[in-house]
Amino acid sequence: PRQSAPMFSRNNFSVWSILKKCIGLELSKITMPIVFNEPLSFLQRISEYMEHTYLVHKACAQAESIERMQAVAAFAVSAVASQWDRTGKPFNPLLGETYELLREDQGFRLVSEQVSHHPPISAFHAEGLAQDFVFHGSIYPKLKFWGKSVEAEPKGTITLELLKHKEAYTWTNPLCCVHNVIVGKLWIEQYGTVEIVNHSTGDKCVLNFKPCGMFGKELHRVEGYIQDKCKKKRCVIYGKWTECMWSVDPQVYESHRKNDRKGAEETDVAENEDADDMPEVQETVAVIPGSTLLWRVASRPPNSTEMYNFTNFAIGLNELEPGMEGVLAPTDCRLRPDIRAMEMGDMDEASKQKERLEEKQRAARKERAKDNEEWSTRWFELGVNPFTGSQDWLYTGGYFDRKYTDSPDIY
Ligand SMILES: *[C@@H]1O[C@H](CO)[C@@H](O)[C@H](O)[C@H]1NC(C)=O
Ligand SMILES: *[C@@H]1O[C@H](CO)[C@@H](O)[C@H](O)[C@H]1NC(C)=O
Ligand SMILES: *[C@@H]1O[C@H](CO)[C@@H](O)[C@H](O)[C@H]1NC(C)=O
Ligand SMILES: *[C@@H]1O[C@H](CO)[C@@H](O)[C@H](O)[C@H]1NC(C)=O
Repeated sequence: PRQSAPMFSRNNFSVWSILKKCIGLELSKITMPIVFNEPLSFLQRISEYMEHTYLVHKACAQAESIERMQAVAAFAVSAVASQWDRTGKPFNPLLGETYELLREDQGFRLVSEQVSHHPPISAFHAEGLAQDFVFHGSIYPKLKFWGKSVEAEPKGTITLELLKHKEAYTWTNPLCCVHNVIVGKLWIEQYGTVEIVNHSTGDKCVLNFKPCGMFGKELHRVEGYIQDKCKKKRCVIYGKWTECMWSVDPQVYESHRKNDRKGAEETDVAENEDADDMPEVQETVAVIPGSTLLWRVASRPPNSTEMYNFTNFAIGLNELEPGMEGVLAPTDCRLRPDIRAMEMGDMDEASKQKERLEEKQRAARKERAKDNEEWSTRWFELGVNPFTGSQDWLYTGGYFDRKYTDSPDIY
């Protein structure tokens, strides 16, 4: 029952005129017109990691540790699948902004908070309603503008604890790159190595998100393996982050690859001097006989292209059901006036509200500086991640007791 308006056309805006002065700068310091946004805060974007929570429940239900690791690896890949074709920029969260998501149907609840403004850090904490898992992290999206593309490095560790198995897994998400921000067609690539470590033993799963390469052969491909404590490869994992992931026995995989190479042919793509076009190679994943399906992406709603390419999960994130307003923390993204105006299709109002909110934030910061006052976070505190030993923002609890009287006034 979402009442939202279709997205606005960006055709009349020249990004280049805004960006040409900014090559190499950190993008968080550049103000972009709201027309390049999508009506979600980065806090809501993070909550999309939870879209395939059933994979965490599946991991919890496995008796074998290698089976658990496979489900966790599938979850880690599925968590970034919603990035596909999402070139809209999420709103930068205001300091103190929060977002909650209670999904009884999927058996979890999540709370997140913007805990730092410079650098922008978003902390989140999700837990299984059956007390079966905890999933948390703090993300500092470092954006860099490279002339033709914008690259986002999601600094920060993600931790998944399977409570009944007394296991903890940690990893860092791959880099995300938006190509052709100036000319050509926008497209998204994710690349980098994601290492999922089982902290009970130090065993790990290594996933390689491949850059698409000259001929596009590797477009969206993810390949990796799980090794046990003796460094023995136990299974190979392969697929595409936009589509599906499979698991197969390492020996079967190797012999299949040898045969495959003999018949391999290179596909050429048209070169374009002005834009880094997305290669046209769109073949789906070739399944090796004997593989097990770990995950398959859910199809997007039919009018997704008019809705910022949202998934079904993303479409529900701004929903404000009757009665919710009095229950939510007053800092919740759903109550943020600029996002709400954009959701309703009123771009002028959204733009005006965004400016007002940013000005209010600046004024509050000045006021604190004058009084030598430190900002205090509400639901998270800086601590040490017990599994990695590094600094992390940890949930202090109590959000769902719903006592919000001392919430900051940020809207
Ligand atoms: C998209 O589809 C949904 C459900 O089919 C509908 O409720 C919504 O109004 C549609 N949105 C647009 C912008 O067409
Ligand atoms: C672009 O600008 C022109 C002239 O101002 C206007 O007629 C047109 O409707 C605009 N197009 C869009 C997609 O906003
Ligand atoms: C949505 O996906 C289409 C098809 O790939 C793409 O052309 C368009 O730019 C995307 N829109 C957004 C807002 O990312
Ligand atoms: C993770 O650690 C646990 C506890 O030591 C161990 O039983 C299990 O085999 C490990 N899992 C994997 C996939 O290596």
